[in-house]
Amino acid sequence: MSEMKGSVLIVDDDREMRKLIEEFLQEEGYDAESVSSGDLALNSLQLKRYDLLITDLRMEGLSGLELLKKVKSAYPQQTIIMITAFGTVESAIEAMKLGALDYIIKPFKRGQLIVVVEKAFEQIRLQQEVNRLREVVTKEYQFSKIIGKSKGMQAVFQLIKRVSDSTVNVLITGESGTGKEMVARAIHYNSPRKEAPFIPIDCASIPEMLLESELFGHVRGAFTDARVDKKGMFEEASGGTLFLDEIGEMPLGLQPKLLRVIQEKTVRRVGSTKTSPIDIRIISATNLDLIEEVQGKRFRDDLFYRVNVLQIDLPPLRNRREDIPLLAGHFLKKYAGLQNKAISGLTESAMKILMKYGWPGNVRELENIIERGVTLSQREKISAKDFPPVITGGQGDQLLIEQALARMSSLAEVEREYVHRILQLAGGNKMKAAKILQIDRHTLYKKLEDFRKQQEASS
Ligand SMILES: Nc1ncnc2c1ncn2[C@@H]1O[C@H](COP(=O)(O)OP(=O)(O)OP(=O)(O)O)[C@@H](O)[C@H]1O
Ligand SMILES: [Mg+2]
Repeated sequence: MSEMKGSVLIVDDDREMRKLIEEFLQEEGYDAESVSSGDLALNSLQLKRYDLLITDLRMEGLSGLELLKKVKSAYPQQTIIMITAFGTVESAIEAMKLGALDYIIKPFKRGQLIVVVEKAFEQIRLQQEVNRLREVVTKEYQFSKIIGKSKGMQAVFQLIKRVSDSTVNVLITGESGTGKEMVARAIHYNSPRKEAPFIPIDCASIPEMLLESELFGHVRGAFTDARVDKKGMFEEASGGTLFLDEIGEMPLGLQPKLLRVIQEKTVRRVGSTKTSPIDIRIISATNLDLIEEVQGKRFRDDLFYRVNVLQIDLPPLRNRREDIPLLAGHFLKKYAGLQNKAISGLTESAMKILMKYGWPGNVRELENIIERGVTLSQREKISAKDFPPVITGGQGDQLLIEQALARMSSLAEVEREYVHRILQLAGGNKMKAAKILQIDRHTLYKKLEDFRKQQEASS
């Protein structure tokens, strides 16, 4: 029994010729099929992948060149050989410029055909090998789409693998934008619970009263708006994973209730006396220093130990700069694809800037900068011009100071303007702004409050 050597689709409106090539190739062990027009070939390519396409140049309907252009734009990797009659060799050369690999001149002998086809298959196998190797390389630096070749990220991948099989509660820490939610999802989707739901809940954005009923559910009449019984997130996530994002922001009043659920593995809806058992894994995340929160009595220590059975700490991007080119390349491909722009990379000086910058907003900030760069870029490569001033070396701050000088502003005014500007750059995210300003967020809240009062007093 001979093994199939590969698949070939033959396109020729001359029935005899088509059948002849098909037969030759089948006898050589290729899985050959043939169709009588370019349109039929396009249909076949939609249904199935062929290693090699052999098409006649001059055909009724879609010509060989037209077919070539269509196939190359839809399937750039498709290998194509043209058949051309003696005297039309120019068009065969034209075809090769458009991406055909080779051509055969009619009339040809069986042996000539086989040689050209075998040569093509050598090329195809080489390409397949390159593709395979490329895949291996990206896989090594990637875990569930999380990218990183730095030691720090490789250690994170190891931890994810280790905790995925167990049900220990995991606490993911790291600055804003380091990928905490991505890691939480990776743990869930690599765990035996992957078929059950992954339910994220943002403890910072839900008001205390709502958070309680969101988490635990409620029974009808528990409070004014509770018209029907409602399952809470704990019950929804039973069998799966509950992701408590920004757990550091969980109101103190709710913390003992959360602790009870974790300890007793039962949940009681608000307003109910009945408890029901739940089977749940909890993954939490925070960008606060929870130990500091515990010391400041804003977070219960007993709850801290329960949610933090194992900690995964994500290193800030500035401490793993070797990941920057990899991530930049990944986001570039993503946004160039989404925006349908032919951008192949970054200029050397643009990459240097990325390598030097401090990245207070970490990977999310890098992603935003690349997306913006792809949008603005007019060339094949993103250059420093396509970056905002904050990235290119604080020219933004310089401008601010010059404006302030021109107006002879007071120090207080400059501070107010600066804080507002940073807050704007952080997209209104106070936590992130506080981090850039290197003050704690309570100080930031207080400053904003003071600015507001000053404004009121002066107007
Ligand atoms: N290692 C990584 N590889 C690829 N993409 C990443 C990586 N880390 C982060 N990202 C991307 O950066 C963005 C932010 O990630 P994510 O939301 O997981 O961060 P976070 O730590 O939860 O941030 P925050 O504290 O602000 O909530 C997402 O778009 C995510 O896809
Ligand atoms: Mg997050």
